[in-house]
Amino acid sequence: ADMAAFIAGLPKAEYHVHLEGTLEAEMKFALARRNGLQLPFADVAALKASYRYHDLPSFLAIYYDGMKVLLKEPDFYDLAYAYLAKAASQNVLYAEMFFDPQEHLKRGVAMADVIGGITRARTDAAAKLGIQSQLILCFVRDLSAESAMAALDAALPMKQYLVGVGLDSDEKGNPPSKFAAHFAKARAAGLKVTAHCDLNQENTLEHIRQAIVDIRVDRIDHGGNILQSPELMALAKAKNLYFTVCPTFSGTVQGEAPPVDVVRGMLDAGLNITINSDDPAYMASEYLNEVLVKAQHRSALTKAELVRMERNAFMAGWMDEGLRAACL
Ligand code: ADE
Ligand code: ZN
Repeated sequence: ADMAAFIAGLPKAEYHVHLEGTLEAEMKFALARRNGLQLPFADVAALKASYRYHDLPSFLAIYYDGMKVLLKEPDFYDLAYAYLAKAASQNVLYAEMFFDPQEHLKRGVAMADVIGGITRARTDAAAKLGIQSQLILCFVRDLSAESAMAALDAALPMKQYLVGVGLDSDEKGNPPSKFAAHFAKARAAGLKVTAHCDLNQENTLEHIRQAIVDIRVDRIDHGGNILQSPELMALAKAKNLYFTVCPTFSGTVQGEAPPVDVVRGMLDAGLNITINSDDPAYMASEYLNEVLVKAQHRSALTKAELVRMERNAFMAGWMDEGLRAACL
C-alpha cells in the first residue's frame, strides 16, 4: 500500500500505449449504440470475459475486432480524451500515443476524422487536465506495404499533428525492412521513428538489428530480446536508445535458460527503459500505476530505481526542451 501510494505520487511519462487498446468495454457499448451497431455480447461482463488470448496473434484478433465501433470524429475524441483523463489522474505528465489508421481507413473512416478527433482531445486534455501529449502513427506490419504507404500519404498533410511513426501488429514474416521506404519518407518529413520488436518473436534479433542499423530508429518498443546479443546491446547504448517495455504483455525473455525478467534484466544491463501499459483495456484495465505496482513487485524495483527510471523517462520523449524542463 505504501509502495502503491509512492508510485501514484511519482510524476510519470508514457510512451507505449495504443489508443485503440485503451477502448474500454463500457465505451465500446456506448459507441456501438451511438453508431447503430450491435455487439455480439449481452453486456460488459460478457464482452470482458471474451478477452482471452495466449500470444500476439490471438491478442490482435480481439483488439482489431474491438475497434470496429470507432467510426466518427467524436468517437476518436472520446477514446483519446478518456485515456488522457485516466493518465492525468495517475500523475502522467506527458504521453506519446500510438494509433493504427490503416484499420480505420479500411472501414471508410477519413484520416482527417481520426487525427482530428484525437487532436481535439489532446488540446482539451492539455487545457483542462494539464496533461501534454503527442501522437505516433503506426504502420500495421501484417497489412501490405502499399496500405501503409497510402496511410502515410493520407496523414502527411496533417503531419503537424504527428510526432513520429511506428510499427506494430503481427511481427511474424513482417520485418522492419518491409517498411524501409515508409520510414525514410516519414523521417524526411521531420517525423521521429520507432518500431515494435515484440518479445520472443521469430527472427527477433535480426528485427532488432534492422531497426537499429538499417532503419536507424529513434526508439524501440519492447525489444527485450536484445539481452541475448552483447553486440546489439553495445550499439543501443552507444546510440543512447530508449526501450519502451510493457511487462504486462511481455514480461519474460524466453529462449534463454533460465528465462530472464525483462525489466530487471534490462535495468541491470544498463539499458534505458521506460515502463508502459500497452493496451490497458485488454489487460485487466491496468493503467500505468497498476503496471508499475506489479513491475515493482515482480522485478524487485527499489524506490530509488523507480524514481531514477521515471525521471529518466522524461529524457525519452520527443518533446521540445521547454516542456522537458518543465516536466523534470
Ligand atoms: N498492437 C497493439 N498492441 C500491440 C503490441 N503489444 N504489439 C504489437 N502490436 C500491437
Ligand atoms: Zn505495443
